Amino acid sequence: MSKIDLSKIDLSKIDLPERLDAFWMPFTANRQFKAKPRLMASAQGMYYTTIDDRQVLDGTAGLWCVNAGHCRQKIVEAIHKQVSTLDFAPTFQMGHPGPFALADRLAKMLPGDLNHIFFANSGSEAVDTALKIALAYHRVRGEGARTRLIGRERGYHGVGFGGISVGGIAPNRKFFGAMLPGVDHLPHTHNLEQNAFSRGQPQWGAHLAEELERIVALHDASNIAAVIVEPVAGSTGVLIPPVGYLQKLRAICDKYGILLIFDEVITGFGRLGSGFATDYFGVMPDLITVAKGITNATVPMGAVFVREGIYNAFMHGADSAIELFHGYTYSGHPLACAAAQATLDLYEEEGLFERANGLASYWEDAIHSLKGFPHVIDIRNLGLVAGIELAAIAGSPGRTRLRLHGALF
Ligand SMILES: Cc1ncc(COP(=O)(O)O)c(C=O)c1O
Repeated sequence: MSKIDLSKIDLSKIDLPERLDAFWMPFTANRQFKAKPRLMASAQGMYYTTIDDRQVLDGTAGLWCVNAGHCRQKIVEAIHKQVSTLDFAPTFQMGHPGPFALADRLAKMLPGDLNHIFFANSGSEAVDTALKIALAYHRVRGEGARTRLIGRERGYHGVGFGGISVGGIAPNRKFFGAMLPGVDHLPHTHNLEQNAFSRGQPQWGAHLAEELERIVALHDASNIAAVIVEPVAGSTGVLIPPVGYLQKLRAICDKYGILLIFDEVITGFGRLGSGFATDYFGVMPDLITVAKGITNATVPMGAVFVREGIYNAFMHGADSAIELFHGYTYSGHPLACAAAQATLDLYEEEGLFERANGLASYWEDAIHSLKGFPHVIDIRNLGLVAGIELAAIAGSPGRTRLRLHGALF
């Protein structure tokens, strides 16, 4: 566990109360953490500095979100400039240039006709937005019975009620009642017997996409709105899609008029060595959700990329009619837009997606060199993503993770 002893920290230099109790920390063992906190004071590039002046390698880029490294000057300056020029303007029946310019730029980066963009403030909001757009899309086309949503076991789609309903991580779901009705789940693709220590995409498992046929047979396609998956599942412990799996999902969705949503909150903006997983796998979804790397994590922002035909389906009726009754006070916030523009500049100027691609095989060799170490039962990787699976401590799988986290820190 952490070696930080708060009694030894000069609190006159750091803005920290004597008691850490008031902040209810998210996804954290609060009592354990507050007894032995791990607190960062600053960050630069790949490193954090803790409040007791130790450097810590930020191996997960924050929460998979600081894709270009910490405290990049260009982004910091863009935010400074924006906040002193236009700190806020609504985007409901008004606007400012920021989100228009950003959407236009993103649309040019995206493949095919993924050329309309709805802004939110997080991955969770992006997911709920995408699910709502999918439901409303079918309704405005006169197929309002298509209300069922299909997620996948072990999926993580944030913490909104939509996201946890289609998500498949039991502790994120079990405390929160019935959630959305009419949701079903595909099986996950993890299989140690078949795929342990695969390099890149595993060969076994494409057939698991055919489970969607079974789900369609059960509920009937006329009742199903959308399928949502992470192209590479991150939060559950890195599950790489088997060769051909995503292509199969796409084909089955096409066959039945079901929308396919890729949740690219982690895979977006370079993580795989391409702009997006859709480029990497050559599979076009109907909607993509992103967040995190869009602003290099400096200002919260999420977004949904939407294909032309879906957007156009809403653009009917009287010009004065609001086409989608959905949005957030901070959709297209000026600071987030400025941060995103500067982030995209950095990605381009420094060729960071190409750099990630160039590093991928080096990273693969390095990570797989850990095979054979005690407790390591699987290693999986793709692009600059890797997961090392450790044998669980009998009866308490979570303890392995917590112990390792503490030891590494
Ligand atoms: C695939 C995926 N979707 C959604 C989210 C939720 O994003 P946020 O925490 O910004 O709400 C995450 C967060 O890790 C994620 O990995």
